[in-house]
Amino acid sequence: MEAIERILVVGAGTMGRQIAMSAALAGYTATVQDINADMLAAAGADLGTWAATRVGKGKLDSDAASQALSRLSYTTNLQEAAGSADFVIEAATERLDIKKEIFATLGSYTPAHAVLASNSSTLGSSKVAEASGRAEQVCNMHFFNPALVMKCVEVVRHDLTSDATVAVTLELARRLGKQPVLINHEIPGFVANRLMGAIQREALALADAGAATIEDIDTTARTALGHPMGPFELMDLVGLDVITFIAEATYAETSDPADAPHPRVQALEATGRLGRKSGSGFYDYGQGGH
Ligand SMILES: NC(=O)c1ccc[n+]([C@@H]2O[C@H](COP(=O)([O-])OP(=O)(O)OC[C@H]3O[C@@H](n4cnc5c(N)ncnc54)[C@H](O)[C@@H]3O)[C@@H](O)[C@H]2O)c1
Repeated sequence: MEAIERILVVGAGTMGRQIAMSAALAGYTATVQDINADMLAAAGADLGTWAATRVGKGKLDSDAASQALSRLSYTTNLQEAAGSADFVIEAATERLDIKKEIFATLGSYTPAHAVLASNSSTLGSSKVAEASGRAEQVCNMHFFNPALVMKCVEVVRHDLTSDATVAVTLELARRLGKQPVLINHEIPGFVANRLMGAIQREALALADAGAATIEDIDTTARTALGHPMGPFELMDLVGLDVITFIAEATYAETSDPADAPHPRVQALEATGRLGRKSGSGFYDYGQGGH
């Protein structure tokens, strides 16, 4: 574990940039690699703004912020960045062909000791392990959005993941200030998304049965169960297109009709109601909206 100094994050999108900043704040040298130079520039600007805002609110020391930002670097060259990485967190676009190619390159160019982790929400790391040529050093390290805030990291081992890889990944997550949990074998949705899916399915079934309004179902989740938001509010926040994507991916793995995309979510999606990001979903977020 002492050997881990340099972390490579592949993918500068929503997740990758915040994972890299978490590593830089914890004292690691972090390189962010992306095939899209515009995304790298956007990531750098975004993290600069994030840090300035935190400093402005007194939540982050200004020296700590500038030191963290100086520990970050950005590149489009994966082979070069891989050469000095002790630990890689892949957070590229959710497509198996893309991830397989990345893991093949990582397997060829990272030092022999490097652990290769995938942040994928739906693709178990066994699917990319073989391409890396070092399956025992591959696992999922699943952060939650926003990665700078959310404490949970699901560390998911596949059949060949070694105990040493699991131990190093759990410890790294702790050093990033997270509270990691271990998932002992690959299961579609891991734990958090399965729990969320079960609650959402039941909420949709209750609404379909006319048992209560979506507003009252959400209120019940908040006031009786202590959830920070109700299932419909949460689906709107995540994005109804993302909810359908996760359901499709889970259904493709399980063939269980209960996991299939819900018609009510799909109907809203078809009319462009994607949740908060489009201004409406289960609720309206325009002026005077929810
Ligand atoms: N968004 C979430 O809420 C969330 C939460 C947990 C996990 N994840 C997982 O994180 C990963 C990334 O998701 P995101 O939401 O950050 O996606 P995103 O679309 O915001 O970013 C993906 C980035 O990957 C880059 N990319 C594409 N191909 C690449 C390649 N060959 N090499 C390097 N970079 C490449 C893209 O240019 C883009 O910048 C996915 O596997 C997703 O399942 C997402």
